[in-house]
Amino acid sequence: MNAAQTLQPPPLGVRILGCGSALPVGRLTNVDLEKLMDTSDEWIVQRTGIHERRVFDREGRGESTRTLGVTALKRALASAGMTGADLDLVLVATMTPDMMCPPVACRVAAEVGAGHIAAWDVGGACCGFVFALNSLAAQMRTGLYKTAAVVGSDTLTQHTRYDNSCRDTAILFGDGAGALVFQTTDDASRGLVAQAMHSDGSCWQDLYVPQHVQDFYGEVDESLLSTVRMNGRAVFKFAVKTFQDLICETLDMAGIQASDVAQFICHQSNARILSAARDRFGIPEDRMLVNIGKYGNTVAASVPLCYDELMQAGRLHEGDLVMFVAFGGGLTWGSSLWRL
Ligand code: COA
Repeated sequence: MNAAQTLQPPPLGVRILGCGSALPVGRLTNVDLEKLMDTSDEWIVQRTGIHERRVFDREGRGESTRTLGVTALKRALASAGMTGADLDLVLVATMTPDMMCPPVACRVAAEVGAGHIAAWDVGGACCGFVFALNSLAAQMRTGLYKTAAVVGSDTLTQHTRYDNSCRDTAILFGDGAGALVFQTTDDASRGLVAQAMHSDGSCWQDLYVPQHVQDFYGEVDESLLSTVRMNGRAVFKFAVKTFQDLICETLDMAGIQASDVAQFICHQSNARILSAARDRFGIPEDRMLVNIGKYGNTVAASVPLCYDELMQAGRLHEGDLVMFVAFGGGLTWGSSLWRL
């Protein structure tokens, strides 16, 4: 055995042991939106596939990115037959932390009863969950962490306005959280098979939240500080193309066909973007869940919300290949192919 071999630990596999989700109580339907702005249920459904979304309530119910994340993670731990004390890493993907400091992950870890473990937030906007998944998998494969959780939790409705000035974004976003719990295994065939992560910061202005007057792209409107700004048409075109390119890239890396993938677990941004990808690859409806109708675009929560729904419905099985796919502000796009 040479020195290089002794320094290389055998790669470990990673199993997804549990999942859970949490949604705010409040619902905002398209009919509710019709009363607040110049829009219609028919327009929203036809352009996005969304019927209603969940909206958090900080003052009345005490809901927040943190509380939703804690509930989702507690449910994921329960489904894995574990407690917080079993965890040695918690990542929270979010673009809406309750505070700039501390990281949401630290309080989530403490509130599920974890010890003094590694816990930090991952940005990445709507790609945050997939980016966190890939970095967690890389660290777990080396044995650095043995039992870990990734939470996606966002409350972006606080950064839109329910009037005509923001009717393009007000119809899209909803709040929620989802969590997955992972554990290493000696079976190296399980876990991450292939991944791709990309960004193009030159297109940042297509989707951003200005915090200062200097942040505005083009016209400055101080009343829109801390409010999502979006070039919907540009994001739509970008998303249709990158979604399909990402799927191709990931299938090629793994040397497989779309028909080998049991489930495409996709960020829910617009039902039309998902159906364009389905058509291009001939993916049957039952292999790409579309639940945007119930929740809207929940940012980093949308991918784990889909995973949890598929698991509850008995549609995920040991040995399945599943591909997580997302894109979002940055602009960013990423995928993660797993053998369950
Ligand atoms: N209700 C009714 N009309 C609306 C509207 C609303 N909520 N929002 C915009 N419109 C109007 C526009 O003002 C425009 O009117 P005009 O032709 O008189 O200028 C018209 O509808 C068409 O606008 P357009 O932006 O071309 O519509 P669209 O078909 O692109 O749909 C989105 C708009 C936002 C639904 C769509 O572009 C989209 O989903 N983009 C991707 C957004 C996304 O995924 N963001 C998150 C990424 S993670």
